[in-house]
Amino acid sequence: MTPTARNAAEAPAGHRTASRSGLHARASRSLVVLPGRAPVSTTPKVSLNDICLTYGVNTKGRLIALDHINLHVQPGEFLCIVGPSGCGKSTLLHLVAGLHRQTTGEVLIDGKAAQGTGTDRILIFQELGLFPWLTVQQNVEFGLRMAGVSKAERESKAADYLRLVHLHQFRDNYIHQLSGGMRQRVALARALATEPDVLLMDEPFAALDAQTRDLLHDELERIWAETGRTIIFVTHNVREAVRLGDRVVLLTFRPGKVKREYHVDLPRPRHLEDVPVATAAREILGELREEINKSLEAEYGNETNR
Ligand SMILES: Nc1ncnc2c1ncn2[C@@H]1O[C@H](COP(=O)(O)OP(=O)(O)OP(=O)(O)O)[C@@H](O)[C@H]1O
Ligand SMILES: [Mg+2]
Repeated sequence: MTPTARNAAEAPAGHRTASRSGLHARASRSLVVLPGRAPVSTTPKVSLNDICLTYGVNTKGRLIALDHINLHVQPGEFLCIVGPSGCGKSTLLHLVAGLHRQTTGEVLIDGKAAQGTGTDRILIFQELGLFPWLTVQQNVEFGLRMAGVSKAERESKAADYLRLVHLHQFRDNYIHQLSGGMRQRVALARALATEPDVLLMDEPFAALDAQTRDLLHDELERIWAETGRTIIFVTHNVREAVRLGDRVVLLTFRPGKVKREYHVDLPRPRHLEDVPVATAAREILGELREEINKSLEAEYGNETNR
């Protein structure tokens, strides 16, 4: 289904399109984060059931990257994952994308065991993986071409998604002719064009300047509301997580476990500079700092022991 064809009535529960003035009227509420609220009782889009994942790092040892992770993501939910560097965030996304396999536990998609990669889930890497020898339009068509979609349908879908990210007029440009923010939007259009149910995003905006990132937050929130995709979004930036997420999951330093979940009960659209967003982020940051300190201790400790 193209984004333009999607009926507003199909937008998942919880998506709100409050006006800016509505936001400001309601944003002064003091209740900003509700830790541990009970999950919605539908079949989750993605379930991670008691997942452990260990990597073989050398001949001597193994590294436990994920340790008994239990996480359920509802259809149409925007879930953000934060945690210190090396805690297993990318590993978790790769697992859902089917690029890694868990050591124990199960990954379910719509209640059924995930079988490797699938067009129902797509991962946008930080490096984007756009092809410099293809135009913007050809990059967006790439996944559809691989899936054997006809030329006419490819062109029509690529045009729809390029309009959605406001890049239709740049369709004949090559990637080196675009700014960083525009490249991000091409990657987003390419991912959306294959119409996955689940969009997995690994620190997609980390390298962008603040203004471009703000714009892309607005774009991503709008696209999410219009298309009803389920999004799992990894970031180091807690404020970004609160600005975007319905829920923020905090992972511990190695091995990665779920330390705490926060339900963000703030009206949308949100903005990074909103006071309730900053207040909620501060609360989460306090918990995250403990984990970052553990990671620094482990890493600096190892350095001094050499
Ligand atoms: N292919 C691999 N083989 C062995 N160890 C790995 C492999 N990939 C990741 N690791 C280790 O697993 C742990 C988790 O890595 P991961 O990349 O998932 O962390 P992360 O939370 O995404 O970190 P960052 O925030 O820095 O991106 C790290 O200690 C890393 O060194
Ligand atoms: Mg990572």
